[in-house]
Amino acid sequence: MSQFDAAQPDSAEVFRIRFLGTKGQIKALMGELKNVSPEQRKAMGQHLNELKVLAEQQWESLKESQQPTVIAGGNSMDRTLPGTPLPVGTRHPLSLVRNEIVAIFRRLGFAVAEGPEIEDDWHNFGAMNLPEDHPARDMQDTFYIQQEPAWLLRTHTSSVQARVMEQQQPPIRVICPGRVYRNETISARAHCFFHQVEGLYIDEHVSFADLKQTLYFFVQEMLGKNVKVRFRPSYFPFTEPSAEMDISCLICEGKGCSVCKHSGWVEILGSGMVHPRVLENFSIDPNKYTGFAFGMGIERITQLKYQINDLRLYSQNDVRFLQQFSGVV
Ligand code: DAH
Repeated sequence: MSQFDAAQPDSAEVFRIRFLGTKGQIKALMGELKNVSPEQRKAMGQHLNELKVLAEQQWESLKESQQPTVIAGGNSMDRTLPGTPLPVGTRHPLSLVRNEIVAIFRRLGFAVAEGPEIEDDWHNFGAMNLPEDHPARDMQDTFYIQQEPAWLLRTHTSSVQARVMEQQQPPIRVICPGRVYRNETISARAHCFFHQVEGLYIDEHVSFADLKQTLYFFVQEMLGKNVKVRFRPSYFPFTEPSAEMDISCLICEGKGCSVCKHSGWVEILGSGMVHPRVLENFSIDPNKYTGFAFGMGIERITQLKYQINDLRLYSQNDVRFLQQFSGVV
């Protein structure tokens, strides 16, 4: 029966004519009964009747399969109409930029490490050489979940440095993307949560020149070959010496605008050589090993890359904002 394709609109009728019609095969076989010996005629007649019943059933089911499907409410469904397109989501701009940062450092041989967003005091502060009385530990900056023992929302991804060094001895080469929290009033320029990427490289003979060259390469890959870079001396408890890195403002190309506060330069990250005390906290010998570390804000780089001037846009979930990033892989 395979030639009776139910999807063919007239297949039931073709079937009926061929088997059940007045000139059909079953009628023809009935006509042959007169040529069968009288002893066999009765049995043969019964077989032919069964065959006719089967053919009728088959005809009914072919007719049924060709009926338009009736759905509740009495509307028939037209399978030839084009479907309703499903709305397709887009990647969040912060995810796009994070993926790009990760891809660049992966090319340099960095692995990705992650840590918990709820941290203890040791991994977020103590291990990173932040003294007991450091202002960052203040309730005004840090969201504490519990006071004693202290559980808090990590204030920076430097806590993941501690998690990595706890588990691994040098050589270490990791980047750690993640969300961080600070008790800030939400405005166009500040938010109570944002995203950072931390970098850590520890091995024998790692120098400040390696730090500079790595970050310089990163900026060129991420933002273009024409972007200028400068390092300024700075202070972080977990690095010595420390430096902040500025890039020439992409918005005004150095002429001066509100994003660069008319200086032509924008700070994009903090960095430095890992403090010997941080290494000692994890039984890494500072006489044998040195390392560099850095931490950058993903929002800031996204702001420069896509000219986004209000931090709140990142978390408001306004599809008109988010859809602008469709097609960006
Ligand atoms: N943790 C710093 C912050 O949140 C950023 C930072 C600065 C990270 C210097 C580093 C570093 O690893 O070396 O502001």
